[in-house]
Amino acid sequence: MRIILFTGKGGVGKTTVAAATAIKIAKQGLKTLVVSTDPAHSLSDALGVQLGPEATEVSKNLWGQEFDVYYSMKKYWGNMRQLMLSLFKFKGLKKVVAEELSVIPGMEEGTAFLWIEKYYREKAFDVLIIDSAPTGETLTLLSLPQVMKSWLTKAFPGQKFAIKTVGSIMRRTAGIPLDKGYEELEVLFNKLERVQEILSDPKISSIRIVANPERMVVQEAKRAYTYLQLYGFNVDGVIVNRILPDTENDFFKNYISSQKKYLEEIDESFSPIPIMHVKHQGQEVFGLDLLKSISESIYQKHNPEAILFDEKPYIIEESKEGVTVKIRLPFLNEKDFQLEKFGDELIITIGNQRKNLFLPKFANFMKLRQHDYQEGYLIILLSNQK
Ligand SMILES: Nc1ncnc2c1ncn2[C@@H]1O[C@H](COP(=O)(O)OP(=O)(O)O)[C@@H](O)[C@H]1O
Ligand SMILES: [Mg+2]
Repeated sequence: MRIILFTGKGGVGKTTVAAATAIKIAKQGLKTLVVSTDPAHSLSDALGVQLGPEATEVSKNLWGQEFDVYYSMKKYWGNMRQLMLSLFKFKGLKKVVAEELSVIPGMEEGTAFLWIEKYYREKAFDVLIIDSAPTGETLTLLSLPQVMKSWLTKAFPGQKFAIKTVGSIMRRTAGIPLDKGYEELEVLFNKLERVQEILSDPKISSIRIVANPERMVVQEAKRAYTYLQLYGFNVDGVIVNRILPDTENDFFKNYISSQKKYLEEIDESFSPIPIMHVKHQGQEVFGLDLLKSISESIYQKHNPEAILFDEKPYIIEESKEGVTVKIRLPFLNEKDFQLEKFGDELIITIGNQRKNLFLPKFANFMKLRQHDYQEGYLIILLSNQK
């Protein structure tokens, strides 16, 4: 199964572009499902067909679905919450606090992962198109397994979190049996990690960023790209939507010339990733016909279901001095980040976000000699300790 996820700032046209892409791929004869993970669903409106919490057939080869958190929680999370509750009460937390904590952050997003895992395992569709929530939430979604792990590490301090460890400790110290909820938690974690693997496999999954030629939108798109690279996801396209045509109309002149400036900035920032342009349609875009015509303008030169770009975000080279690791992080600034190495882990801090990158195991006992930022690459020199 091929997976294409669309992300970008709120209102830029993610749903429109995701639906248009799905329509075009379905027309090519591939069984395609477009899902919306944004709780503020608008996929039904865009397609002009009422969708539900399970996949609904829209037209030949085209299916649509709007994930519903409550529906999915019921379907997937059964006993787990109860287990978390007993764990926390055992730890001496007040019942109300335990109640609060038993909803793991990201649980809502997690349900989307479980759907993806199910469709992938069942080979239910040829192509899965994900119309996701705005950038921040998408990043949360994509880093969910780590987020949940770090949260659980906080919940069980003093141990390197491993679901097995927690289980055996519980058995030894509290006598709480390995009940159904616990097993569910373990299955769940394995699934989450599996989905993250699937989503970060460039042969299966692509992320496409949707943007408009506007200052705030471009900023957010660039930042999103850095984090996606950091997390190891393959961004294979940037779609610039709602480009106004030239006009003599004075009212729009400034706006159009500023759009041109941002179009250039987008080219500079994202090239060589394919950048596709979509004109403002002069009206809202609803229904299969309008979406189909948008899809033609997006994918003039490209096959929508293809992997449009797959440059490696990671390059490792051996040299006399040691090992050079180049990490493609186009929008980092030398001033912007801090770098530390612990074992095989690199900690990059950008603003108030931190990220662990794993180096190959052989780097475990190597020392960070120097780092540099050149032409979009963070270049790290590692060598053996002397
Ligand atoms: N190229 C376009 N021309 C005109 N209107 C558009 C275009 N792309 C999207 N729209 C409209 O903009 C609004 C927001 O688009 P939508 O796809 O829902 O954005 P998002 O999913 O990013 O929030 C919708 O009303 C949609 O019809
Ligand atoms: Mg949307």
